[in-house]
Amino acid sequence: MSTTNKAVAAPGQSPAPGQAAQALGYSPDVAARLEADIAEITSRYPAGYERSALIPMLHLVQSVDGYVSPAGIALCAAELGLTRSEVSAVATFYSQFRRHPAGTYHVGVCTNALCAVMGGDEIWQAVSQATGLGADETSEDGTISLERLECNAGCDYAPVVMVNWEFFDNQTPQTAVAMVEALQRGEAVSPTRGPDALPTFRDNERLLAGFEDGHADEGIGAGEPSLRGLRIARDKGWTAPKEESK
Ligand code: FES
Repeated sequence: MSTTNKAVAAPGQSPAPGQAAQALGYSPDVAARLEADIAEITSRYPAGYERSALIPMLHLVQSVDGYVSPAGIALCAAELGLTRSEVSAVATFYSQFRRHPAGTYHVGVCTNALCAVMGGDEIWQAVSQATGLGADETSEDGTISLERLECNAGCDYAPVVMVNWEFFDNQTPQTAVAMVEALQRGEAVSPTRGPDALPTFRDNERLLAGFEDGHADEGIGAGEPSLRGLRIARDKGWTAPKEESK
C-alpha cells in the first residue's frame, strides 16, 4: 500500500486538483507519477467532459493500491470535481473495482449458467478447497484472491476461469487447481488467449487505465469456437435480414 489513513483528507475537505495525491497521503514519488498519469488520462477527453475519465482513473488507483482505496476515491473526486459519494457510486456499480486489496493474482471462476452446467461449480469448489479461500477473500500472503464471476464473456470456451482478467479456457477442476498452485509457487503461467505471460493484477489494472504494455498483439484473437457460427452462416449462405425501409 502506498497510502496512510492518517494523511487522508477529512470528509468534506477537497484537495486542489493537480496536487491532491500527496495531500491524500501518497508518497512524493507515487504522487508525482499519479498526477502525471491522471493528467494524461484526462487529456484524452474533450474539455468539459473530463468526468468521463473516472473509469480509467479508478483502474489507475487499483494499479497503485491494489483496490479502490479511500484515498483513491478522494483523489478521483478532487481531480474531477466530483463528490466522494459520486465516485463511490461508480466504483461499487462495476464488479471489476475491488473494495479491498486483490491478490497479485485475482482468480475469477465463472459460475454463471453456461459455465456452471459445463463444470464451473465443480471448478469453484476445487479452487476454493485448494486455496482455503471463499468468495472475495485474499490469501494472507497476498498472492491469490478468489471471486465468483457471473460470465466472463467467454461462454464459447466454457467453463472459463480468469486471472487478472486474462482467459483460461475449457478448464477442469484439475487444470484450474494446477494453474493456481503454480501461481502460488511463483511459477510463470500463460493464459490460453491474450498475452504470452500472465501480468500481475496491478500491471493489468494499469493497462485498463489506458497505458499500453506492449503485449496487445500476443496470443490468438478470435479462436475457432468464437468463429464457428460465422463459418456455418457463410457455408449456408445465411445473412442478416435487411433493415426495413420506413
Ligand atoms: S457463462 Fe461463463 S463465460 Fe459466459
